Amino acid sequence: MTENGILFTPFKIGSLTISGRVCKTATSETRATEDGFVTDELLDFYEPIARAGTPMIITGNLYVAEEGKSTFRMCGADGPDKVTGLKRLADLVHSHGGAVFGQINHCGRQVFAKAMGLSSAVSASDVREKVMGTKPRPMTADEIRATVTAFAASAQCCMDAGFDGVQIHAGHGYLINQFLSPYTNRRKDEYGGSFRNRMRFLLEVYRAIRERVGFHYPLIVKIGGADALPGRAGLTTGELVEITRILQEEGLDGVEVTVGHYESGFPMIRGTFGEFFKGLMDEGIGWQLPPGRRAGVRAFHPFLSYFFSRVWPHSEGFNTRYSLEFKKALSIPVICVGGFLSRNAAEHSVKYGMCDAVSVGRAMIADPCLYRHFRENVKGPECSFCNGCIARAGRLPVDCYDLDVRRARDSILEKERQAAGAEAGVP
Ligand SMILES: Cc1cc2nc3c(=O)[nH]c(=O)nc-3n(C[C@H](O)[C@H](O)[C@H](O)COP(=O)(O)O)c2cc1C
Ligand code: SF4
Repeated sequence: MTENGILFTPFKIGSLTISGRVCKTATSETRATEDGFVTDELLDFYEPIARAGTPMIITGNLYVAEEGKSTFRMCGADGPDKVTGLKRLADLVHSHGGAVFGQINHCGRQVFAKAMGLSSAVSASDVREKVMGTKPRPMTADEIRATVTAFAASAQCCMDAGFDGVQIHAGHGYLINQFLSPYTNRRKDEYGGSFRNRMRFLLEVYRAIRERVGFHYPLIVKIGGADALPGRAGLTTGELVEITRILQEEGLDGVEVTVGHYESGFPMIRGTFGEFFKGLMDEGIGWQLPPGRRAGVRAFHPFLSYFFSRVWPHSEGFNTRYSLEFKKALSIPVICVGGFLSRNAAEHSVKYGMCDAVSVGRAMIADPCLYRHFRENVKGPECSFCNGCIARAGRLPVDCYDLDVRRARDSILEKERQAAGAEAGVP
């Protein structure tokens, strides 16, 4: 271990060396143009994170095809016309010495279909999504084939843009997760039923990507350590670990461990929920909820906030109990996301073998310089885990919406801008 500690030692994802063990996890930006192109506003979000020396940045989920786009202003990697914009992002991260991975995704049934201009959402089967109220239709064999091809083309798009690798999103209840889980997959054909059949879609996606990008290109998955669907037939930790073990045999280079579907409640984003429901209804995508659910949330949100804040309170490294199980079974690197805020907790998780690296979402939105602050043992603006950011995702640009935290962050960034200006001789 170096004198700075284990977080600042390199690790390898396939052939790629990542300079440290704290990564930026995917947080959908809501900063692209309406038709999914990279904007200056999107680059502005990543610039301070990259400048702080963050070793690896995973983009917010990029849609692989128009019908897999879940929200407005989401960024796409769905065609060669997106490459130039994505290359600007890759160049920005590289100019600060970091690596960038594109997270590619199809939302399946987790979408407000009408609001997104879809005649219907698609999924493995027609199981209604309980939070959004969306009832999807099962994908046809032709649609499955087309979607596998779309994932492969999307990975190619990321590679052509100069990204260092690609992350396939197989978690959070999105389309791939919908095929994997027996709760959402009731198919009777070769894509449903047995464990192997439910895994077929992911395996086809994985193999099609490999065919395009080759075996040397770093390819990782984000997957849950549990479906977290109590009372429903979700995937167990053992099954999820087995999925990644099979992919490892196929040449997968790494895994990021998360938890849950939208329908799970809030194990994925533990914290407090008072600000969440207020933000969701006033400024987020709450207006897209079916009228009954909207009225329910408005009427009962104080109770819901109280209840959820007690069931899913914030804790640091809340997925390490799952990542440990992946570590036991895999030889490829395991990255753990979930609640990390302090250098101590991150260091402890890596040092004691619960994961090879940690990834951070909200604490890096609150403090884009978190990696450098860890390194220098400096206390920066601290995320309150109020969930104001995710409440507004899909409608307002990703940002910190706790005004005290935001003020502290802006003041640090302003000082940095002034220092950089002085160095460059700008008055
Ligand atoms: C604003 C916001 C947007 C998110 N968007 C994505 C996304 O695009 N893809 C994804 O896999 N997870 C997404 N997540 C979940 C995070 O990647 C992460 O799994 C979760 O926030 C827990 O990590 P944290 O405690 O470090 O924030 C998002 C979370 C937030 C707060
Ligand atoms: S709004 Fe800010 S303080 Fe609240 S969870 Fe998001 S990043 Fe953290």
